[in-house]
Amino acid sequence: MAEKSTKKQLPGICRFLFRLFQIILYIPIQAIFIPLAIIGIADATYKEIWVSKKLGVSFTAIKALQFRWLMHYFNNRPDPISVEFIKKLPCESHFGLWSLFGALIISQRLFGFTTKFAKIAEPGKETTFYTPGRRVLMFDRIMEKYVDEMEQIVIPGSGFDLIALRFTKGKEVKVFEIDQVKTLKVKIDTLKKAAIKHDWIKYIPIDYSSESWADKLLEAGFDKTKKTLFLWESVSLFLEADIVKETLRGMADLCDSRSIITQDFYSKAFILGKTSKTIKRSSRMIEKMGEPWKFGIDMSNDPKAAVESFLKECGLKMTEYFQFGEKLSIEPFYCIVEAEKL
Ligand SMILES: C[S@@+](CC[C@H](N)C(=O)[O-])C[C@H]1O[C@@H](n2cnc3c(N)ncnc32)[C@H](O)[C@@H]1O
Repeated sequence: MAEKSTKKQLPGICRFLFRLFQIILYIPIQAIFIPLAIIGIADATYKEIWVSKKLGVSFTAIKALQFRWLMHYFNNRPDPISVEFIKKLPCESHFGLWSLFGALIISQRLFGFTTKFAKIAEPGKETTFYTPGRRVLMFDRIMEKYVDEMEQIVIPGSGFDLIALRFTKGKEVKVFEIDQVKTLKVKIDTLKKAAIKHDWIKYIPIDYSSESWADKLLEAGFDKTKKTLFLWESVSLFLEADIVKETLRGMADLCDSRSIITQDFYSKAFILGKTSKTIKRSSRMIEKMGEPWKFGIDMSNDPKAAVESFLKECGLKMTEYFQFGEKLSIEPFYCIVEAEKL
């Protein structure tokens, strides 16, 4: 009996000893990085907070790009274009990110030491911590699914996402990206500085307070009769409910019946910071940077029905629904959906 239980414990003990060995190897590497991290954090904070404010760039667009950098270096999603882009982006520090995560990245590569930064949750097992990584992979999958059958792709609020460059190079598809004037100006300047080819993409800068994005899109050559993918990732939570509705109705009006509108929604509880203290802290920080979370859907009862009914109000029929954390016993907080014109 005693022998049996020792045998049972052995893999566990081995795992523990291996983990301990990894931690012992990791500590001196991290120690080397500490002085660099002090300079790196100062550099990153200066660029992300002060330079971004000075340039009038969306802080949340920078944060979204950071996840793509992390996914690249932690071997979850190769993304050399985003890395080259970050190196030239005036409001982010490639050195700062390396100084913060370098010890973990090197330890993972040398002896397989992994932490939660390097993990991607399985579908249905996403917590809020794992949401940004899984979201990027999900939108990649949606883009892959549709890129060859679409005639036009529109990415409103594209920020510093380079998904269009990743999937549409050399393809027979018209691509439009829409965002605020200053954010898009910095994006185009950075692409040029990084020598990243982007000449097949039409960038449409908008002053949302005085201009209509739909009019500007039509002026830029958007064709209402063509099969279109609208990809609206991580934007609706920053807008008032009536603007979200108006924008989705606008997309429905511009679409023909073969087109797809894909987007994500957070729950009301999430945007009010009720899901956890960490989320509350993030929400306060983002609010201080001038981009408060505003819009969420009440997902406390039947989230799928709530999202479906909201889309219906906007003239859309939901065709796909992916709820994060569905297999966990947590309150629904986020979903990605695909829809068609009603
Ligand atoms: C969190 S970022 C997401 C960027 C990008 N979609 C991504 O996934 O990396 C939010 C983006 O929405 C843009 N935005 C802000 N106000 C907007 C509005 N009224 N309509 C559309 N986009 C807006 C911001 O400039 C920013 O680039």
